[in-house]
Amino acid sequence: MPDTIIRLENISKSYSQGDTVIPVIENLNATIQEGKFISVIGPSGSGKSTLLNVIGLIDTADSGDIFFFDENLKDINYVQQNLIRRDKIGFVYQSNNLFSDFTAIENVTIPQLLLGANKKDAYNLAFKCLDILGLSARINHLPKDLSGGEQQRVAIARAIINEPKIIIADEPTGNLDKNTSNDVFEHLINFVYSQKISLIMATHNLDLARKSDHQIKLV
Ligand SMILES: Nc1ncnc2c1ncn2[C@@H]1O[C@H](COP(=O)(O)OP(=O)(O)OP(=O)(O)O)[C@@H](O)[C@H]1O
Ligand SMILES: [Mg+2]
Repeated sequence: MPDTIIRLENISKSYSQGDTVIPVIENLNATIQEGKFISVIGPSGSGKSTLLNVIGLIDTADSGDIFFFDENLKDINYVQQNLIRRDKIGFVYQSNNLFSDFTAIENVTIPQLLLGANKKDAYNLAFKCLDILGLSARINHLPKDLSGGEQQRVAIARAIINEPKIIIADEPTGNLDKNTSNDVFEHLINFVYSQKISLIMATHNLDLARKSDHQIKLV
């Protein structure tokens, strides 16, 4: 049995809009295991991003329990949660949020520099990550001089440089055409499976979702 990275038990989350309460996630149970790809599917507004934000420790659930490596989040203080988010989780979003004045490789070094790595080590590691994603010939390009798919691959390189245990991806191929989307996904999934890390990905692309080890369906 692979190790369980995250376990969700009876997670519920609603938003208040004036006097009305809008339930978004109701009593959700899920297990995310090491080296597995979990897709999150459901119509627009069904709570996919909300769920990813809860799992990524960006937002909190109203009720239920979340276990990270068998430790209940309720027993982990705010500072420790920040460390989990920084050290164990890589994020990839639909729009890549790359810094426009920095080259591809400079963008990828940033998470390492924030961890205190020296510039040369960060650069070498960033090159390795960009190489894995097929971008070794593009490292000195600014984001505007890269295609949409290449920009997303840079964003993935930036998400993996700190060697996370889990990648949270919110429609990472949502802005790309079908072929580019498949290409970016292939790079991502190959990396995930080769490194035995977990991927939890929200997507409207049911072809990609079908490739997952497990689907979380929201309604
Ligand atoms: N901060 C907020 N305050 C109030 N309501 C919110 C907030 N964030 C999200 N919602 C509502 O919660 C519901 C779920 O939103 P969410 O963004 O999680 O959906 P989604 O499944 O990711 O949709 P999409 O496929 O369009 O990205 C929506 O009805 C949305 O309007
Ligand atoms: Mg969303």
